Amino acid sequence: MGTLLTMQALPLLLLLLQPFPFQFLKLRKYLNFSPSEQEAFDDYVAELFSTGPTKPPTKELFQKDVIIDYERPLSDSDYCSEEVKLKSVHNRLHCKKEHFFLGVEYEELQQLCRQRFVACRNGVKRCHRSQKLIEGVYCNLTDGVMMPDCQYKSVYKKGYVLITCRWQDDIRQIIPSHVNDILEIHDQH
Ligand SMILES: *[C@@H]1O[C@H](CO)[C@@H](O)[C@H](O)[C@H]1NC(C)=O
Repeated sequence: MGTLLTMQALPLLLLLLQPFPFQFLKLRKYLNFSPSEQEAFDDYVAELFSTGPTKPPTKELFQKDVIIDYERPLSDSDYCSEEVKLKSVHNRLHCKKEHFFLGVEYEELQQLCRQRFVACRNGVKRCHRSQKLIEGVYCNLTDGVMMPDCQYKSVYKKGYVLITCRWQDDIRQIIPSHVNDILEIHDQH
């Protein structure tokens, strides 16, 4: 129970300490972490201070690119090719190799950033998983290099969403930064 409280309070603690990186090292000594908690703690710290070579998506950009507004049936085979154009989803005008659209409230997704770390699709333990099933569309690039020529295969999926999160400094929040996968649970017949 004490462990649970510690882990839940962690994001808040880290936010408070954010301007004082050296305090993290002290905190690490005082909290009596198990090895897996230690790993989660180090991951949180890495997430808070990570700055990639390319500009990561902002809260607004992520919302625009990923969150579905339900005007088109998710089973539409042209879903991705059409929505990518409508929503102008791209990587500096280059087609994204793959993309996920999710039918979920942004705030609900953001809450996931406070959940413990689980393995991403590549096995690295840096993702957060939804607790309920979320509907979405997986887009896999089939043709095109630059906008607006990007053509995608669309695959409807319903499952547990895996996302990564990062710290956005100007708004001082941990935000979803990437959709890693939708884990489908298949019926066993
Ligand atoms: C996406 O498309 C590529 C190339 O067509 C294919 O190799 C890959 O397996 C696809 N990925 C998934 C997850 O379907």
